[in-house]
Amino acid sequence: MTALTQAEIAARAQALGPWFHNMDLNGVPTAPDHFLGDYPRVKWDRFRHALPADLTGKTVLDIGCNAGFYALEMKRRGAHRVLGLDFDPDYLAQARFAAEVQGLEIELQELSVYDVGSLGQRFDVVFFIGVLYHLRHPLLALDLIWEHVASDLLVFQSLQRGSDDLPEIAPDYEFWDTAHFDAPGYPKLHFIEQSYSGDNTNWWAPNRAASAAMLRAAGFEIIENPETEVFICRRAERPDARYGAVYPTPGTAR
Ligand SMILES: C[S@@+](CC[C@H](N)C(=O)[O-])C[C@H]1O[C@@H](n2cnc3c(N)ncnc32)[C@H](O)[C@@H]1O
Repeated sequence: MTALTQAEIAARAQALGPWFHNMDLNGVPTAPDHFLGDYPRVKWDRFRHALPADLTGKTVLDIGCNAGFYALEMKRRGAHRVLGLDFDPDYLAQARFAAEVQGLEIELQELSVYDVGSLGQRFDVVFFIGVLYHLRHPLLALDLIWEHVASDLLVFQSLQRGSDDLPEIAPDYEFWDTAHFDAPGYPKLHFIEQSYSGDNTNWWAPNRAASAAMLRAAGFEIIENPETEVFICRRAERPDARYGAVYPTPGTAR
């Protein structure tokens, strides 16, 4: 634990802000007025039970770790190694400070999800929470995670809009059969050309069926869906050679 006083922590937190994660830094909240409440704790409380309580000996990768809330929770569960990635150095500075105050050792690296291949290793648990809808190329990101860094569990969450239905989708439809496209629960990835919720990095809003379908299409088997936006998956075989159109083609020069 840190030797800093609460006043010193508050001053450092203020200088490192604004924060997206409301971290509890020795009693100092970093984002007490978050529009989603005590975030991400309120989210975590809805799916924490779905993950192993003991991660002793396991490796964890948190892609888009922000201020490190989930990375630090995984370290608390005994993970041997936790690596948090974010492409925003300001968020990584927050995570570094949060880890210091909480007295937990995690690694942090400035890296985009598109570059996870450069890590050259796989992790037992990969978090990919709250990032997909910020990406211009969401399915590519899932393909790259499958291809390069996931070895077992993937913990996925996305902002979702539209229907929460999970209807059976037929493997194929006849060309003139179009009605299913208008069914609210058919997998839909709503494209946001300009901005959503004041954030012009929100590019997509999948419905629940689209999150599930994209995960399967990238080669992940869904083992639990503990709340509508959260999917606990296992890396599986890709069912068909047409899947995994990863760029660059594995084995070619970069
Ligand atoms: C909505 S926040 C989610 C933070 C955290 N994972 C959570 O669920 O609370 C999105 C995070 O993803 C990061 N991010 C966005 N695009 C990224 C990319 N291409 N590579 C890595 N991180 C990215 C942002 O910097 C931000 O920290």
